[in-house]
Amino acid sequence: MKKLTFLPLAFVFAVTTLLLFSESCSKNSSSPKPMTGTTLYDSLGGTALVSDPTHTGAMIEKGRLAIRNVIDSTIFVIAADSRINGHFTVLLSEVTKGDLSGFTDLSENLTTFVSGATGAKDYIYIGLSMKDAHDPATNSRMNGKATSADFDAFVSDLVKGANKNNVPSNLLNSLGKIVESLRTTVVQQ
Ligand code: HEM
Repeated sequence: MKKLTFLPLAFVFAVTTLLLFSESCSKNSSSPKPMTGTTLYDSLGGTALVSDPTHTGAMIEKGRLAIRNVIDSTIFVIAADSRINGHFTVLLSEVTKGDLSGFTDLSENLTTFVSGATGAKDYIYIGLSMKDAHDPATNSRMNGKATSADFDAFVSDLVKGANKNNVPSNLLNSLGKIVESLRTTVVQQ
């Protein structure tokens, strides 16, 4: 796997533009539910609806917004991380050319996956299984299988993404446990 040693400025510019102007949300219910405080998703903000800061006029659940912020920050960190950005060559080359469709899909899919994994009920993940998403034979966007060291790097980038968004350490620990439970599925060599 070829490692990329720089973060294309075009990536930052293009993604920032996308975040400011695009409309994409997979919420399938507009009815807010009472917060119970029992899931990690609830602790991250839960189902309370707030204005979506990047989609004018749209509302978003506070928990999903918190997770999306962490995911988008993490994708930026990964893009600059030469330990693992070589797995994301398809995505990075698209974004460098100004094609943001793959970034939008990844942000959406990762956000929905993590929302569901933390207890969200209003968003349904319909992307690839974790096995298929990380097997180059079934996902041509995955450049090479991930190693356990890659997984460690991914986790450290996720921590950086969470810290950029001031996620409290106890919630980050809970998220870490969920992520760790997927190691043996994501790492396939
Ligand atoms: C628990 C940790 C992880 C989770 C929850 C996760 C989740 C996901 C999800 C939901 C997708 C989108 C699947 C789809 O398009 O249907 C995806 C794609 C991908 N993942 Fe992961 N992933 C994890 C770890 C990793 C690691 C360690 C690597 C490699 C270092 C990696 C590399 C990729 C790549 C290259 C893609 C394709 C990106 C694209 O669409 O351009 N992932 N992952």
